[in-house]
Parts: sequence; C-alpha cells; structure tokens
Amino acid sequence: MRPSAFLALLATGARAHVSLVPAGGHLANNRSALVVRIPHGVDGLTSSRFQINVPAGVRSVAPEDLRGWSSEIRMRALPLEEQYSSHGQPVTTGPETIIYTADTPDDTLPNPNLLDITISIYLGCVYNDPNVHTIWKGQHTLWWGVEVGHSLPNTIAVSQNTSWTGCGRTGNELWDPPTGKACPYLFFTSASTCIYPDDPAAVGMKWLGTIVPAPANPSAVATEQHVLEVVNEELLSYSETQRAQLKSLEARVDSSEKAIGKLDDDVDELQKGSAAPTDGTIDRAELNQLFALASASMAISTLLVGILVGACLLRVLAPGAYTRSLISVDAIEVDAFPARTATHPLPNDNGAGYPSKPASAPVVVVA
Ligand SMILES: *[C@@H]1O[C@H](CO)[C@@H](O)[C@H](O)[C@H]1NC(C)=O
Ligand SMILES: *[C@@H]1O[C@H](CO)[C@@H](O)[C@H](O)[C@H]1NC(C)=O
Repeated sequence: MRPSAFLALLATGARAHVSLVPAGGHLANNRSALVVRIPHGVDGLTSSRFQINVPAGVRSVAPEDLRGWSSEIRMRALPLEEQYSSHGQPVTTGPETIIYTADTPDDTLPNPNLLDITISIYLGCVYNDPNVHTIWKGQHTLWWGVEVGHSLPNTIAVSQNTSWTGCGRTGNELWDPPTGKACPYLFFTSASTCIYPDDPAAVGMKWLGTIVPAPANPSAVATEQHVLEVVNEELLSYSETQRAQLKSLEARVDSSEKAIGKLDDDVDELQKGSAAPTDGTIDRAELNQLFALASASMAISTLLVGILVGACLLRVLAPGAYTRSLISVDAIEVDAFPARTATHPLPNDNGAGYPSKPASAPVVVVA
C-alpha cells in the first residue's frame, strides 16, 4: 500500500472491504433491497468482474442493471425440503450466483472508485447449510461470498481475483476471518408468515432442522442488528488498518535488518584492512593483550589487599603472633643467613647450601 493510500485509510477509516448495506434488519419470507458495496480494487488494475455467491435459502434475487456491464444469474437445484410453491406452482430452483462482467475495457471500474450494486432479494423460510447459515453475535446470519476479478489496463480478461470468501463466523468471533478476506453477511429474523402445508403445527423459519419462532419484538431485534452492523464495520476497518500498519512495520524491520547486515560487512572489511595497524588504532590481538594485563594486575592487587587485610586482622586479633611473624623474617635474613665469605659458599638455586634455621632464633624486640 502506498503511504498516501495508507494515510487516507487512517484519516477516514474508509472501509476497504465488501459489505452488504444494510446488513441488518432483514426478514424471513419477505422482500428487501440491499447494496453490495465494493471498495477500491488493486493498484494498477481495474475491476472487470463481480461474482456474488447467493446463500441457499434466498428464494430470488433481482440485480440492478448496470450500464456497460452484463449480468447473469446462475441457478441451483433445490433439495426437496427447500422447494416451495408460488402462485400454486412448485419452485425447484433458486439463485446460486450473480455475475457481472464489464462489456469493454472502458466500462471496467478504475481502482480508486467505489461501486454500489443494488439488488432486491426475497428471503425464504428454510436454511440448512451450516457453511453459510450461522448464528453469529446472537443473530441468524447468511454469508454471501464475493469475488472481484481484476484486469490489466485496456484489457477485460481477469488476471487476478480478490476473494471476499472468508465466510461462516460463529459465536462472538471477529468478522475478520483467520485466513482469507472477510465475507459479506446479512442478519435477519424469523417470521410467523413461514408456514408449511405438510407440517401445520410449525410456525417460523426452519433453521438447520429446528423451527425458530418469530421474535416477540422484531423492531428491537432489527435495531440491535443495525448497531452490530456499525460495530462490525468499525472493528473490521480497525483490524485492516492494524494489518496495514503491521505490514509497513515489517517492511521497515526488513530494511533495517538489511542495513545492519551491510554495516556488519563494512566492519568486517575495516577489520581485514587494519590487520597490521599503522594508524594508531588498536586491533583485536592488542585488545586481548591489554585485557590479559588488566586481569593480571587486578588479581595481583586483590592478592595484595588480601594480604594487607590479613595482616591488619592478625595485628588486631593476635598482636604477639603478628610481631613474631615480622621478626622471624628479619631474623632469618639478618642473623640466620651468613654473609658471603670464603667459608660459606653461595647457596645454589635449589636452596642447597643454606644452613638450617637455628633451633632458637635470636629475639629482636621491635620498639
Ligand atoms: C413483508 O414486507 C412487507 C412490505 O415490504 C410488509 O408489508 C409485510 O408486513 C412484511 N411481512 C412481515 C411478516 O412482516
Ligand atoms: C478468478 O475467479 C474466477 C471465478 O472463481 C475463476 O474462474 C478464474 O479462473 C479466476 N482467475 C484467476 C486469474 O485467478
């Protein structure tokens, strides 16, 4: 996404997904109209084909005639239990898809433009497909997948599709599906006009094998559905914005990582170039040497401090022993070791030639 498009999205919270408008307030066994709202397409391409997947249970659709576009309704055969009679005639088929195709490249939809396609629908009374009939946020929900075909400029053949077919949210799930793109949905309610000649006791729509009575207060339910519709739009726009932000952050992390990789290479090059430093810089070997020296002097000073502390402790705790330790060293050096004379040869390195310490060293009293 270009930064300008991203900013525009942030600024307006514009929906970037396909919606049915209104999504809420529809009624079983009744007619209503809605708009299939198709947002902008794909950068550099136009939109040339729209396929609207009509969920089972919708008895009929009447799509708007769009100038420059041809529309077609493909039908499905109805299972026996979904068949019904109209004006005394049995009805055995229902709409499956509505397909719009642009007549010429000039008729295709440019990327930045929005398109609203109005269709009128007639909802039935029998719903049996758990893939596209779910209870979501407490509402009976019909899922309508939409596929948008895109073409290269000045062509009409579809070169790429955007599939808004992540259908079938249940419970309190977000509209945003775990994979794919959010599928347009419709909320509706049961009606007491749903009756069945072969099952006179049943009143209300048949939902996945169960009779659902009409709500006691349909207008309150419709209001609730419209509120949910607004919230769903906001949440999906929000998560689309988040995803766009995440994408741009990922791109930035990616380019930062590349820059760091390049810096690493540069440092390696510099180190290779300064193997024999003549410019006053310190190389790795020298650093190691310095570090070893520093460690050694640290060890030595620690040892010295230890000895000093030991000596102080000895002086405080055992003054007599402290005095003797000082004296004995001096005594050995001063008195016990003979001066170098003809009769006393120098001791060799192994200590041979030193006389053993006298049994009783002379006592020197330290003032
Ligand atoms: C169906 O819609 C028509 C108008 O569109 C309305 O008069 C009728 O009452 C509706 N049916 C039910 C059961 O509400
Ligand atoms: C686009 O979607 C249509 C309908 O599903 C399909 O027939 C066509 O092959 C797709 N085209 C591309 C390029 O994916």
